Amino acid sequence: MPRSYIIHTPEEIIRIRRAAQASGWLRDQLAAVARPGMSTWELDQAAGALIRETGGKSAFLNYCGYPGNVCISINDEVVHGIGVPERIIQDDDLVSIDVGVMIDGAVGDTALTFTFAPMTDEKRNLMEGTREALNAGIRAAKCGDTISHISHAVEQVAKRRKLGVVTDYVGHGCGIKLHEPPEVPNFTGRGRGAPLLPGMVICIEPMFTAGDWHVVLDRHDHWTARTRDGSLSAHFEHQILITDNEPEILTWQKTM
Ligand code: MF3
Ligand code: CO
Ligand code: CO
Repeated sequence: MPRSYIIHTPEEIIRIRRAAQASGWLRDQLAAVARPGMSTWELDQAAGALIRETGGKSAFLNYCGYPGNVCISINDEVVHGIGVPERIIQDDDLVSIDVGVMIDGAVGDTALTFTFAPMTDEKRNLMEGTREALNAGIRAAKCGDTISHISHAVEQVAKRRKLGVVTDYVGHGCGIKLHEPPEVPNFTGRGRGAPLLPGMVICIEPMFTAGDWHVVLDRHDHWTARTRDGSLSAHFEHQILITDNEPEILTWQKTM
């Protein structure tokens, strides 16, 4: 039975904070360089160059055999999309970028979704709802509560906005390894979950759809997860540190 959660030491937290800041920088740089007409492969190559600038390496490349530097998931793709030369980004695409940087034995992990063209009401509800759910989850991440408090806060936003909650993938502890215990589901019903204690580092990452919650894996690359009904999907992720007071948003870009 694996430990159900990890309390990181102050020395580890210093290194995790640096990796998380590098990830936040990478996320925002990629969102800034992404433009319609570019292929997702070009964007992944740009990510590779930016990661080298941080002095770290991709936390995703070769993770369980994953072939990209970052994950680029468009429209009905929920997570784990791989950059390819044939896929040209369109101005009305919903582009989700998920990045992970490992530096000095610590890992940062963060994601966002953006588009270029004016949004339909359906897209705006999806984008705003998913971002709002991440913020609600972060506000619920207080020392003394449990993981289910975060899950409940995230799920409530989806319910109110009539969005689908993807359940095949969940948030997670993250610090020295990319995926550490505990799991951080975007839905309730699995009990209270681990306690939230100072020194815990977790990724909260709602993955919502404008339709049904079911996802299917790409039969060829075995990575790309798409909505079964073809509906649009959005994904936002921050890595946070539980403290005695408000959580610290480690992937909120402050300095780089
Ligand atoms: N970044 C994803 C997460 O948020 C994990 C990606 S694993 C990879 O947990 F292998 F696809 F890169
Ligand atoms: Co991620
Ligand atoms: Co994650």
